[in-house]
Amino acid sequence: MVQSRRLQLGSQPISSRADHWQELWSDPQNDGEIMGGLAARPSLDAIWKSFLETAALRPDDLVLDIASGAAPIARSAESLPAASRPNFTCVDYAPAALTAARTLGARVICCVADANRLPFRPGSFSAVVSQFGLEYAGAAAFSEAASALRPGAPLLAVVHVAGGAIALESGASEQVVAAALEAGLIRALRDTLAASYDGAPAGYVNKKREAAFQRTLAAARSRLVASPPSPGAAILANYAADMERLAARRFAFAPEDALGWLQQIEQRLRAYLARLRAMQQAARSPQDMDEISTRLAGAGLVDISFEPVQFRAGDAQGAWRLSARRPA
Ligand SMILES: C[S@@+](CC[C@H](N)C(=O)[O-])C[C@H]1O[C@@H](n2cnc3c(N)ncnc32)[C@H](O)[C@@H]1O
Repeated sequence: MVQSRRLQLGSQPISSRADHWQELWSDPQNDGEIMGGLAARPSLDAIWKSFLETAALRPDDLVLDIASGAAPIARSAESLPAASRPNFTCVDYAPAALTAARTLGARVICCVADANRLPFRPGSFSAVVSQFGLEYAGAAAFSEAASALRPGAPLLAVVHVAGGAIALESGASEQVVAAALEAGLIRALRDTLAASYDGAPAGYVNKKREAAFQRTLAAARSRLVASPPSPGAAILANYAADMERLAARRFAFAPEDALGWLQQIEQRLRAYLARLRAMQQAARSPQDMDEISTRLAGAGLVDISFEPVQFRAGDAQGAWRLSARRPA
């Protein structure tokens, strides 16, 4: 039997721009709740189910999901009746993103590729979809998406919105994490640990370096108290508690383990910060959406529209819902 779910298409070199996403998807503790968290999930799921039902797709139809991550759209299709469940081709430039997508079975084919240079023949797909994906790749990706549609096929993209709920939350996260890194929290802990480990007598703590670490830690905590609640603040509060425990029990650990752990935390926080910044840059204003619509029209699409989506009553706008179609 052909194990199509193991198929790995695409041979483009992986851009180093994918590193911060690769880090996210490689982390076994990542539960995939990255975009708007739990609040957004039911609305997004409803958007995709309604789109797939209206498109009246069949199992031999191919849907292209661009910048698919762990394939949440193909997951939304799981609850459709088998006869109206299409096949998905999930594209992402971070190979680890597709690890979870590959568990979805033979209906999902995975392809590591850059959304700006899709490795498909024009007109190959019965629908093209993207959830918080195309806007990361930029303008060229919208033209690529348009060209992948066969005559009569629809495009639907859920796009980050400038000043919206996700942009506000990621902005708040970015501020606390960036401030802690810039204030040298990790460096201060590394310095005090190094002084204890580096050929010093057993139990030695350098008072000056320890005081510098405690000061930086206290300043990070005060900033956390003063900042609005955000996922970044929660992550940082956990790491701060871990760092404090590590400093207090430094002699219980092998130096290479303690310093290696610290290096990992720094890498994770830097990758997280890069993702938060990418999310801010991906957020689109109404003017940007007009430009994207013009680009889609230039690529031959019709019935182009974009409208605001709200994830939860009372929240700021959650996303744009961008739709278009290639004429039959
Ligand atoms: C915000 S996540 C969204 C993932 C998924 N669509 C979801 O809703 O959970 C953005 C995804 O876009 C991918 N990505 C960003 N730029 C890309 C590009 N130029 N080509 C392909 N994938 C890209 C990242 O690797 C990441 O998985």
